[in-house]
Amino acid sequence: MKLYVEKDYEKLSKVAANIVREEIEKNPNIVLGLATGSTPEGMYRELIKMHKGEGLDFSKVTTFNLDEYVGIDEGHPNSYHYFMKEMLFNHINIDFKNTFIPDGKTKDPEKYCKKYDELIEKKGGIDLQILGIGENGHIAFNEPDETLNLGTSIVNLTQSTIEANSRFFDSIDEVPKTAITMGIGTILKAKKIVLLANGKKKAKVIKELLKGEKISTKLPASMLLLHPNVTIIIDQEAYNG
Ligand code: F6R
Repeated sequence: MKLYVEKDYEKLSKVAANIVREEIEKNPNIVLGLATGSTPEGMYRELIKMHKGEGLDFSKVTTFNLDEYVGIDEGHPNSYHYFMKEMLFNHINIDFKNTFIPDGKTKDPEKYCKKYDELIEKKGGIDLQILGIGENGHIAFNEPDETLNLGTSIVNLTQSTIEANSRFFDSIDEVPKTAITMGIGTILKAKKIVLLANGKKKAKVIKELLKGEKISTKLPASMLLLHPNVTIIIDQEAYNG
């Protein structure tokens, strides 16, 4: 596991975007795994700058997002479909046909989830997966529990995640209680993983993860300790609290 501790969020975002840029330049047909939430917003801003200023080319890039709320329309301002368009896709030359985000309104979740994993495989697997981390140690929406799902599946969000995400909604009652998420197995199949975390609120969980001693389904991010190519990029606040 490689660790970069950057001085602040801006630097963290630049370092993360540079990694993505290098990987795209090495392999223009790259398959990227993408996250939503506050953490990667700065990285997406940097990537847009790289596209507009330096011609970073996304025309052959394929993307798979980690997750989406269940029951929310794609056009809803809190949907992850909407987030990705606003934060990245509308501002770069990606072909929308090559962008995949779980469908939170699927009528047949079981079949759909299986298909999502199969599609990732069919596209050659994820080359570089970007992750954030929940205050409770979740990655994607794999919440701490007795067991964790390997494949993409529908999961219940914990109260702590509902509370953390309520900042994006008008009221906590509006936050969906379930989500569709890539499973831990799906994530661990990625060839490279970059996990980002910033701010004091993440310090406790980052400290636990960096101990690097044990894996536990109660700390889903600890599963990353099993992966051979993980880079963790955090800011000083997430490191020291
Ligand atoms: C989002 C996702 C989540 C977030 C995590 C941190 O696609 O998979 O695991 O990465 O909840 O969210 P922020 O970045 O808002 O603190």
